[in-house]
Amino acid sequence: MTINWVGRFPRQRERERKEDPMEKRRSCYYRHHQLLYAVILSFMLWSLMVSFGGRRVLLNPGSDSCIGRYVYVHRLPSRFNHYLIENCESLTRGTDKGNMCSYMQNMGLGPAISHSQSQGLFTHNNTWYATNQFMLELIFHNRISKYDCLTNHSSLASAIFVPFYAGLDISRFLWLSNLTLRDSSARDLLQWLSNTPEWKRMWGRDHFLVSGRIAWDFRRQFDNASYWGSKFRFLPESINMSMLAVEASSWNNDYAIPYPTSFHPSKDAHVFHWQTKIRHQKRPYLYTFTGAPRPELEGSIRGKIIEQCRASNVCKFVDCSYGVETCDDPIHVIKVFESSVFCLQPSGDSYTRRSIFDSMLAGCIPVFFHPGTAYSQYKWHLPKNRTKYSVYIPVKDVKQWNVNVEKVLLAIPQGEVFAMREEVIKLLPNIIYAHPASKLDSFQDAFDLAVKGMLERIEKVREAMRSGRDPSVGFADEDHYKYTFSQDYS
Ligand SMILES: *[C@@H]1O[C@H](CO)[C@@H](O)[C@H](O)[C@H]1NC(C)=O
Ligand SMILES: *[C@@H]1O[C@H](CO)[C@@H](O)[C@H](O)[C@H]1NC(C)=O
Ligand SMILES: *[C@@H]1O[C@H](CO)[C@@H](O)[C@H](O)[C@H]1NC(C)=O
Ligand SMILES: *[C@@H]1O[C@H](CO)[C@@H](O)[C@H](O)[C@H]1NC(C)=O
Ligand SMILES: *[C@@H]1O[C@H](CO)[C@@H](O)[C@H](O)[C@H]1NC(C)=O
Ligand SMILES: *[C@@H]1O[C@H](CO)[C@@H](O)[C@H](O)[C@H]1NC(C)=O
Repeated sequence: MTINWVGRFPRQRERERKEDPMEKRRSCYYRHHQLLYAVILSFMLWSLMVSFGGRRVLLNPGSDSCIGRYVYVHRLPSRFNHYLIENCESLTRGTDKGNMCSYMQNMGLGPAISHSQSQGLFTHNNTWYATNQFMLELIFHNRISKYDCLTNHSSLASAIFVPFYAGLDISRFLWLSNLTLRDSSARDLLQWLSNTPEWKRMWGRDHFLVSGRIAWDFRRQFDNASYWGSKFRFLPESINMSMLAVEASSWNNDYAIPYPTSFHPSKDAHVFHWQTKIRHQKRPYLYTFTGAPRPELEGSIRGKIIEQCRASNVCKFVDCSYGVETCDDPIHVIKVFESSVFCLQPSGDSYTRRSIFDSMLAGCIPVFFHPGTAYSQYKWHLPKNRTKYSVYIPVKDVKQWNVNVEKVLLAIPQGEVFAMREEVIKLLPNIIYAHPASKLDSFQDAFDLAVKGMLERIEKVREAMRSGRDPSVGFADEDHYKYTFSQDYS
């Protein structure tokens, strides 16, 4: 089900024109008119630039590095974003936390961890925070508020950002059996959006939003309280929009972006410093698993992994069963990961885990067991060639699983291990969210790559519309292969 965006028809017309005997005479006529058009067009463009002015006065459009990158951020009624922050006491369900409010400090990064609290892990203050994964919506909104190509003129914008805190919002309703209530914010938001002039331009196909929860939380397929989630992403307006989320569903208009980690550098130097530190780190353990068993989940391989890890003297197991605090302590988590060569990343309640990014941050090579854990997800942020930075042990059926993880890992030549770790270290900027109050100069971080990916995607849709094709073709289709053990990842 690949979508062919490359239009064949315009090229065909071009060929027909060249073969036309009238062509020569016509092209002479064209040349005179082209000059006139060029003059008129330049004047129109010039008046456009002058009247829009703004931060960049552009007399020469070629010099504007923001062309094609302008983003317009909707100013939504507060109930869709700020209200949720102001009423943070109500957002505790499903988080194991008594109170989420402290995580909203520092533009959503959470409480700062000082150098003295870090037990020697890092030396720079204001680079590490106790960041909660559900705060991605707030972090992203704060980052985009400082984006260098913002515009207040939506007609100039290549993309429209909708700062709806979708995950925080739905966390208030996910466990309610009243479906009208569960879907209420989604319906209100879509009604608001579809009444704006911005909507009419591309029927929402240039709109995008971000979720700190997995995309499945908005994909309830049947109106039955026993099914999980809201119906947000199946509502007609929402189908025309794109969503970035920490885990994408199997529909094409969802895109995965990294979970936030605890590292939020504000300078390039912080990144270089950390990369150097983890490159030279001593790693006494061959591999690590940090997580909880999932005995209630049928087919979960976590039990097997824990069994093997416990029986090994080169594996470190950190038990994150309910109530164990250490797994929530960023210092402790990073210390474990940086003392290990490989980090096992089996699926849990969903395909992906924040731990993938925490472990890569510590220079630990990830080991995946399912294509949906990373390879079919973070396509804008991780290399296409999985062997460069990770180990893959596909487990299609846990009942038939007879792999000895330790043997597999020990069989990898030292040179390859070294090269993989170097790749993980090189990838580090791609998977972190820099401090929203600043911007890295020599790196594109997870946010930059997400915006770039989104702009490219929207541009393709715009191109399709311009050349008269139906933009809905393939836009929100279900990709059945995403979570299967396909050839691509064999
Ligand atoms: C880091 O912050 C702590 C606590 O706020 C302070 O005592 C310390 O001097 C700071 N260290 C540096 C290197 O700025
Ligand atoms: C857009 O308008 C708001 C409110 O008037 C203003 O604070 C902001 O600086 C403007 N942004 C740009 C990019 O011009
Ligand atoms: C569900 O919630 C809506 C909106 O609050 C309310 O009008 C309706 O009566 C509720 N339905 C049930 C079955 O409780
Ligand atoms: C909802 O789903 C459950 C489980 O699939 C089923 O037992 C129940 O009959 C369904 N209810 C309705 C109203 O369809
Ligand atoms: C979605 O986009 C299509 C055009 O691609 C448009 O016809 C349709 O009305 C849009 N849906 C809504 C609800 O705006
Ligand atoms: C993928 O990366 C590995 C390791 O760097 C390399 O040996 C292999 O040739 C690459 N495959 C492709 C298709 O580029």
